[in-house]
Amino acid sequence: MNEITISTTLQVYDGICELPLVIQGLMKTAIEARDNAYAPYSKFNVGTALLLDNDEVVIGSNQENASYPSGLCAERTAVYYAGAKYPNAKILKMAITASSQNQITDKPIPPCGACRQAIAEYELKQKKPIEIYFMGVEGKVIKSDSLANLLPLLFDNSVL
Ligand code: THU
Repeated sequence: MNEITISTTLQVYDGICELPLVIQGLMKTAIEARDNAYAPYSKFNVGTALLLDNDEVVIGSNQENASYPSGLCAERTAVYYAGAKYPNAKILKMAITASSQNQITDKPIPPCGACRQAIAEYELKQKKPIEIYFMGVEGKVIKSDSLANLLPLLFDNSVL
Protein backbone atom coordinates (compact mmCIF):
# COMPACT_ATOMS: atom_id res chain seq x y z
CA MET A 1 0.00 0.00 0.00
CA ASN A 2 1.21 3.47 -0.89
CA GLU A 3 -0.14 6.81 0.11
CA ILE A 4 -0.57 9.86 -2.00
CA THR A 5 -0.68 13.35 -0.55
CA ILE A 6 -2.68 16.01 -2.29
CA SER A 7 -1.97 19.61 -1.43
CA THR A 8 -3.14 22.92 -2.76
CA THR A 9 -2.10 26.54 -2.42
CA LEU A 10 -4.58 29.38 -2.21
CA GLN A 11 -4.06 33.10 -1.71
CA VAL A 12 -5.90 34.88 1.10
CA TYR A 13 -6.63 38.62 0.87
CA ASP A 14 -7.60 40.51 4.01
CA GLY A 15 -10.49 42.22 2.29
CA ILE A 16 -11.94 43.43 -0.97
CA CYS A 17 -9.75 46.59 -0.88
CA GLU A 18 -6.65 44.46 -1.19
CA LEU A 19 -7.80 42.88 -4.46
CA PRO A 20 -6.54 44.08 -7.86
CA LEU A 21 -8.86 46.80 -9.21
CA VAL A 22 -10.29 44.59 -11.95
CA ILE A 23 -11.29 42.01 -9.36
CA GLN A 24 -12.77 44.65 -7.06
CA GLY A 25 -15.02 45.68 -9.95
CA LEU A 26 -15.89 42.06 -10.74
CA MET A 27 -16.69 41.39 -7.07
CA LYS A 28 -18.95 44.46 -6.95
CA THR A 29 -20.85 43.06 -9.92
CA ALA A 30 -21.11 39.72 -8.11
CA ILE A 31 -22.47 41.55 -5.04
CA GLU A 32 -25.22 43.15 -7.16
CA ALA A 33 -26.06 39.74 -8.59
CA ARG A 34 -26.08 38.25 -5.07
CA ASP A 35 -28.51 40.87 -3.84
CA ASN A 36 -30.86 40.01 -6.73
CA ALA A 37 -30.73 36.25 -6.15
CA TYR A 38 -34.00 34.37 -5.92
CA ALA A 39 -33.53 32.51 -2.66
CA PRO A 40 -36.83 32.64 -0.75
CA TYR A 41 -36.36 29.15 0.72
CA SER A 42 -32.78 29.04 1.97
CA LYS A 43 -32.48 32.79 2.46
CA PHE A 44 -28.89 32.27 1.36
CA ASN A 45 -28.01 34.50 -1.56
CA VAL A 46 -25.09 33.77 -3.85
CA GLY A 47 -23.86 35.95 -6.71
CA THR A 48 -21.11 35.49 -9.20
CA ALA A 49 -19.56 37.46 -12.02
CA LEU A 50 -17.37 36.05 -14.79
CA LEU A 51 -14.89 38.02 -16.85
CA LEU A 52 -14.53 36.51 -20.32
CA ASP A 53 -11.66 36.92 -22.79
CA ASN A 54 -13.99 38.93 -25.06
CA ASP A 55 -14.25 41.51 -22.23
CA GLU A 56 -17.86 40.59 -21.52
CA VAL A 57 -18.99 40.13 -17.92
CA VAL A 58 -21.60 37.46 -17.28
CA ILE A 59 -23.43 37.21 -13.97
CA GLY A 60 -25.31 34.50 -12.15
CA SER A 61 -27.26 34.16 -8.93
CA ASN A 62 -28.91 31.22 -7.27
CA GLN A 63 -32.41 30.51 -8.50
CA GLU A 64 -34.50 28.45 -6.11
CA ASN A 65 -37.69 26.52 -6.65
CA ALA A 66 -40.55 25.26 -4.47
CA SER A 67 -39.44 21.86 -5.72
CA TYR A 68 -36.05 22.31 -4.05
CA PRO A 69 -33.82 20.18 -6.33
CA SER A 70 -35.04 22.10 -9.37
CA GLY A 71 -33.18 25.21 -8.20
CA LEU A 72 -29.69 26.04 -9.40
CA CYS A 73 -26.60 27.54 -7.80
CA ALA A 74 -25.23 30.92 -8.84
CA GLU A 75 -22.01 29.52 -10.27
CA ARG A 76 -23.69 27.04 -12.59
CA THR A 77 -26.26 29.62 -13.65
CA ALA A 78 -23.35 31.85 -14.68
CA VAL A 79 -21.12 29.33 -16.44
CA TYR A 80 -24.04 27.82 -18.36
CA TYR A 81 -25.20 31.30 -19.36
CA ALA A 82 -21.68 32.15 -20.54
CA GLY A 83 -21.46 28.87 -22.43
CA ALA A 84 -24.81 29.51 -24.11
CA LYS A 85 -24.26 33.16 -24.99
CA TYR A 86 -20.55 33.16 -25.84
CA PRO A 87 -19.73 29.56 -26.76
CA ASN A 88 -16.22 30.38 -28.00
CA ALA A 89 -15.18 32.73 -25.23
CA LYS A 90 -12.88 31.67 -22.42
CA ILE A 91 -13.68 32.40 -18.80
CA LEU A 92 -10.70 34.21 -17.30
CA LYS A 93 -11.85 35.20 -13.84
CA MET A 94 -14.72 34.40 -11.54
CA ALA A 95 -15.84 36.32 -8.43
CA ILE A 96 -18.24 34.73 -5.95
CA THR A 97 -19.95 36.18 -2.88
CA ALA A 98 -22.62 34.83 -0.55
CA SER A 99 -24.83 36.29 2.17
CA SER A 100 -27.20 34.69 4.65
CA GLN A 101 -30.24 36.30 6.19
CA ASN A 102 -29.64 34.19 9.31
CA GLN A 103 -26.09 35.17 10.18
CA ILE A 104 -23.28 37.47 9.14
CA THR A 105 -21.31 35.70 6.46
CA ASP A 106 -17.81 36.87 7.17
CA LYS A 107 -15.99 33.78 5.94
CA PRO A 108 -15.16 33.08 2.30
CA ILE A 109 -17.84 30.82 0.80
CA PRO A 110 -16.39 28.37 -1.71
CA PRO A 111 -18.38 26.92 -4.62
CA CYS A 112 -20.15 23.65 -3.82
CA GLY A 113 -18.91 20.35 -5.21
CA ALA A 114 -21.42 20.21 -8.05
CA CYS A 115 -20.44 23.71 -9.16
CA ARG A 116 -16.75 22.81 -9.01
CA GLN A 117 -17.43 19.91 -11.36
CA ALA A 118 -19.37 22.21 -13.71
CA ILE A 119 -16.65 24.89 -13.70
CA ALA A 120 -14.02 22.18 -14.28
CA GLU A 121 -15.74 21.22 -17.52
CA TYR A 122 -15.21 24.75 -18.88
CA GLU A 123 -11.64 24.96 -17.62
CA LEU A 124 -10.83 21.73 -19.44
CA LYS A 125 -12.72 22.78 -22.56
CA GLN A 126 -10.92 26.12 -22.84
CA LYS A 127 -7.50 24.72 -21.86
CA LYS A 128 -6.91 27.75 -19.69
CA PRO A 129 -7.15 28.06 -15.92
CA ILE A 130 -10.01 30.04 -14.41
CA GLU A 131 -9.00 32.33 -11.53
CA ILE A 132 -11.59 32.05 -8.78
CA TYR A 133 -12.11 34.57 -5.96
CA PHE A 134 -14.65 33.90 -3.23
CA MET A 135 -15.87 35.72 -0.14
CA GLY A 136 -18.85 36.16 2.17
CA VAL A 137 -20.33 39.61 2.67
CA GLU A 138 -17.23 41.00 4.29
CA GLY A 139 -13.84 39.84 5.47
CA LYS A 140 -11.26 37.72 3.77
CA VAL A 141 -11.28 36.82 0.10
CA ILE A 142 -9.71 33.58 -1.09
CA LYS A 143 -8.20 33.26 -4.53
CA SER A 144 -7.53 30.03 -6.37
CA ASP A 145 -5.39 30.27 -9.50
CA SER A 146 -7.40 27.50 -11.08
CA LEU A 147 -10.51 25.41 -10.52
CA ALA A 148 -8.23 22.37 -10.50
CA ASN A 149 -6.86 23.50 -7.12
CA LEU A 150 -10.34 23.15 -5.64
CA LEU A 151 -11.18 19.75 -7.10
CA PRO A 152 -8.42 17.16 -6.89
CA LEU A 153 -9.17 13.81 -8.55
CA LEU A 154 -11.82 15.38 -10.74
CA PHE A 155 -13.91 13.26 -13.05
CA ASP A 156 -13.24 14.21 -16.66
CA ASN A 157 -14.07 13.04 -20.17
CA SER A 158 -10.80 11.14 -20.62
CA VAL A 159 -12.43 8.09 -19.04
CA LEU A 160 -15.55 8.07 -21.20
N1 THU B 1 -25.65 27.83 -3.51
C1 THU B 1 -25.03 28.46 -4.56
O1 THU B 1 -25.63 29.25 -5.28
N2 THU B 1 -23.74 28.15 -4.77
C2 THU B 1 -23.00 27.26 -4.05
O2 THU B 1 -21.86 26.98 -4.39
C3 THU B 1 -23.57 26.66 -2.85
C4 THU B 1 -25.01 26.90 -2.63
C5 THU B 1 -27.06 28.12 -3.29
C6 THU B 1 -27.98 26.96 -3.56
C7 THU B 1 -29.16 27.30 -2.68
O3 THU B 1 -30.01 28.19 -3.41
C8 THU B 1 -28.56 28.07 -1.52
O4 THU B 1 -27.28 28.49 -1.94
C9 THU B 1 -28.43 27.26 -0.24
O5 THU B 1 -27.76 26.07 -0.47
